[in-house]
Amino acid sequence: MQQRPVVAVTRRLPDAVMEVLARRFTLRTPAVDDAPLTPGVLGGLLRDCDAVLCTVTDAIGRETIEAGPVRTRILANFGAGINHIDVGAARGAGIAVTNTPDQLTEATADLTMALMLMTLRRLGEGERMLRAGQWAGWRPTDFLGHDLHGRTLGLVGFGRIGQAVARRAALGFGMRVVAVGRHGSPSAALPEYVAAARTLDEMLGDVEVVSLHVPASPDTWHLFNRERLARMRPGAWLINTARGSLVEEGALADAVATGHLAGAGLDVFEAEPQVHPRLLDLSGVVLLPHMGSATVAARQAMGMRAVANLEAFFGGRPLLDPVVVP
Ligand code: 8YV
Repeated sequence: MQQRPVVAVTRRLPDAVMEVLARRFTLRTPAVDDAPLTPGVLGGLLRDCDAVLCTVTDAIGRETIEAGPVRTRILANFGAGINHIDVGAARGAGIAVTNTPDQLTEATADLTMALMLMTLRRLGEGERMLRAGQWAGWRPTDFLGHDLHGRTLGLVGFGRIGQAVARRAALGFGMRVVAVGRHGSPSAALPEYVAAARTLDEMLGDVEVVSLHVPASPDTWHLFNRERLARMRPGAWLINTARGSLVEEGALADAVATGHLAGAGLDVFEAEPQVHPRLLDLSGVVLLPHMGSATVAARQAMGMRAVANLEAFFGGRPLLDPVVVP
């Protein structure tokens, strides 16, 4: 009988996914799932297992891949973003990389709108006050926030998630939507409710809410640095459900603290799970623990898709979601 491939799963995935994995493969799972695996442990998995099903918390860099001979032939990432994997080094070592870009679009777009609402309508502040037992009763001037309706939203990145946010913002919330792609005007065809901006800096002067939807890469590192934050309209808001490395967090804290920006909504951080301490002190900043794709359906679909990529690979079929070196 043919040996079943040995697949390491770095974090505990939804039960339905773990069950399918256990039926199809010989599984290696962490005994407890209370912290990300260290590069040393990840390197060991690369040497001992045929495949690794990894997540955003697994830093699989060149050093880890090249520390010794690898047995792993495929890294099946649970999630869309692959900035934690050195895809070039993986390819050099003969390791294929896949991701799950189509399974979390709607969940992440919903979370983006939720964060926008939380930030502009001051929902976190209201909830914190109520839970602290400090609500003395309704008053006409308490917690006045700002409408989404009629406001101009600037999308930085117009891929799957950017497009899903545009749909919600324009058709559901009555916002005017402008989009810019990674390298200028968006390459995707624009629906009639989205206007194209030619450059990011041109767009920033026009929009009141900026939402980030580009991947982390050396090109996008600190895309929103001090200088670019200064180019945003006074009183604007910044929403980030993409990657923390896109924003210079200390400069963002300054922009909000000085009142240049009205606030920010952040689901991702540069050194997760650490949050820049100055952001924690600002009531106009809403902070969430990387929850973009955290729905039962999305996390299950992501896991099943990672399994499908593994099955395609070990069945000798084309990968469903191959990641190519940019
Ligand atoms: C996932 C994400 O939760 O897919 C991504 O890129 O950031 C998240 O939605 C995470 O990647 C899980 O590995």
